[in-house]
Amino acid sequence: MTPPRRIGVLHGPNLNLLGRREPEIYGSASLADVDAAIAAAAAEQGAEVVTFQSNLEGALVDWIQARTADVDGWVVNAAGFTHTSVALRDALVASERPFAEVHLSNVFARESFRHESVLADAAVGVVAGFGVTSYVLGLRGLLARLEQA
Ligand code: DQA
Repeated sequence: MTPPRRIGVLHGPNLNLLGRREPEIYGSASLADVDAAIAAAAAEQGAEVVTFQSNLEGALVDWIQARTADVDGWVVNAAGFTHTSVALRDALVASERPFAEVHLSNVFARESFRHESVLADAAVGVVAGFGVTSYVLGLRGLLARLEQA
C-alpha cells in the first residue's frame, strides 16, 4: 500500500492571532480552527498534514529544511512575509517540493503592497479571499497536482 501523502502547512507571522486579529478581514476562526479544517480536508482525501506557525522568518526556514524529507508538498500562508521574504521563497524552492500559496483575505482588493508576492511565481497555484476555505482549496489543488505528477 502506498503511504498517505503528507503536506506541510506553514502559517506566517500574526496568524497565531486569528480570530482576534482584524476579524472583519480575517474572520472569526482561530488558528486551531484552521488547522482542524485542513486536517479534516486532508483526511477526506487520504492525506495528512503537519502544521507550523511562527512569527520568525528564520524559524519558518528552519522548519521547511527540517521537514522537507517527510513531506510531499506545502500549503503556505506566509502572511506578511509573502510580500518580502526572499529567504522563505529560497527555502521552498530548495525543498524541491510543490507548494500552494494561500491567503484568507483577497490580497488584490487591499493595499497595493499586498498585490506583490515573492512566492507566487514559484507556486503551483494561489488561492486568496475565501477565508479558511482558501487553505482547503489550496490543499485540494496541491493534492491533485501531486496525483498528476
Ligand atoms: C494574509 C494577507 C497578508 O497580506 C497579511 O500580511 C497577512 C495575512 C492573508 O491570509 O490574507 O498577515 O496572508
